[in-house]
Amino acid sequence: MRNAIVLAAGKGTRMKSSLPKVMHKILGQPMIGHVLTHLNEVHTDKNIMVIGHGADLIQDYLKDQVLFAFQHEQKGTGHAVMQAIDQLDPTGDTVLLYGDCPCVQSETIEWLFESNKDFDLTVLTAFFFDPAKYGRIVRDKKQRVKKIVEYKDCNKAELNIKEINTGIYCFKNEKLIKHIKEITDNNAQHEYYITDLVEIFLNHELKVQAISVKDNEEVMGVNDRQDLLNAQRWIQKKINNKWIDSGVTFINPQGTYVSLETTLEEDVVLYPNIYLEGKNHIGKGTTIRPGSFIVNAVIGDNVNIDASRITDSTVGNKVNIGPYAHLRGHTVIADGNRIGNFVEMKNAQIGKDSRCAHLTYIGDAEVGEDVNFGCGVVTVNYDGKNKFKTKIGDHAFIGSNVNLIAPIEVGTNAVVAAGSTIDEDVPDNDMAIARQRQVNKPGLGLKYIEKK
Ligand code: UD1
Ligand code: CA
Repeated sequence: MRNAIVLAAGKGTRMKSSLPKVMHKILGQPMIGHVLTHLNEVHTDKNIMVIGHGADLIQDYLKDQVLFAFQHEQKGTGHAVMQAIDQLDPTGDTVLLYGDCPCVQSETIEWLFESNKDFDLTVLTAFFFDPAKYGRIVRDKKQRVKKIVEYKDCNKAELNIKEINTGIYCFKNEKLIKHIKEITDNNAQHEYYITDLVEIFLNHELKVQAISVKDNEEVMGVNDRQDLLNAQRWIQKKINNKWIDSGVTFINPQGTYVSLETTLEEDVVLYPNIYLEGKNHIGKGTTIRPGSFIVNAVIGDNVNIDASRITDSTVGNKVNIGPYAHLRGHTVIADGNRIGNFVEMKNAQIGKDSRCAHLTYIGDAEVGEDVNFGCGVVTVNYDGKNKFKTKIGDHAFIGSNVNLIAPIEVGTNAVVAAGSTIDEDVPDNDMAIARQRQVNKPGLGLKYIEKK
């Protein structure tokens, strides 16, 4: 069995925030979500999150994706692991990760599980030019790991050690469960250190090794907002490089923010100042221009999106969107549509090859194929209490400045004259005109202008 424990009970004082540290976002996703995404890429049988500060928020976010253990008082990393111990499988291996280490990749987690096959404990280390406040890895003359000493407990010689403890380990469950009780809080911080297990295991003649991570930056922890920014830059670069290598053009990748869970197809072109957050899929040959914000959307092939916002919506192939369009609330746009400037659509289904070029609101609507919306059409879907539906048939032509007061149906091949306020259904093939007849008063215009 493979288990994982993620420690996320700490407050994160140095973030200077009311939000628990692991809920701070990187590319639109809380740090703890990054850890879980990478964990989910390797096979594990159980993932246990140890939570304390801001537990409600974290639980609310992760829901039933993981198991939870609670640490009500933060008495150290060893104490945190003790809270999860009852939920571990009796045999197998457990990887220990931190909620505030969002850069750790799935390959590293897999490598740890595999490396621990013939060991009882594997410690992941890194070599830092400035080992700062990290725990130091102390080795004996034969280079075997002897112990980990916390920064605050280091003597002078130990302070000079450049090999540090990343805080990431893999344990044999049996041994972890058996010996974790032996950790004491007899140290400078009066905390229960998980790091003490190195010495404890060695005293029981168990097999311990320390192996070092290939990319030091992968194990960077986030303690303050500078670290958060550094982690974001690292992750952003990693994600963008992956897509560049798979055939995506970035005009300026430093200014393009693609979430971990977004997938991009070949020949996508991404301009700077765009944000793709949540779970998006962007189809082949689609171009997204500056000022676009796209969240949880499925976008087809050869779509052009210009300075627009699209959330929780689906767009077909060869659609032109924007500039300044807003699609939201499970809107579904079929192939070949044109959605122009200052158009908002909410919970609308639009058939193929329709056109909605300017200044229009379409909400709670079912629209057919080849429908033309003039400028300034409004589906009047809300009476102050309830929302109502608008239905429009294929090939219908809705003139400019039309109000469609829902619930309402406009038939196939129906035409609505410009400036109409429509509150009765329009049958197939009919034309509706709902406006007062015009009266021309001879000469009155000139008289009015001269008076001014
Ligand atoms: C720990 C290691 C140190 C290592 C460093 C790497 C110990 C004693 N020290 O130190 O050797 O170099 O990580 O970053 O393990 N947490 C809890 N409950 C607690 C305490 C911590 O959930 O009671 C969580 C925190 O939320 C955090 C993580 O564990 O995500 C690390 O805790 P932190 O106090 O930052 O450990 P360090 O002092 O950095
Ligand atoms: Ca830390």
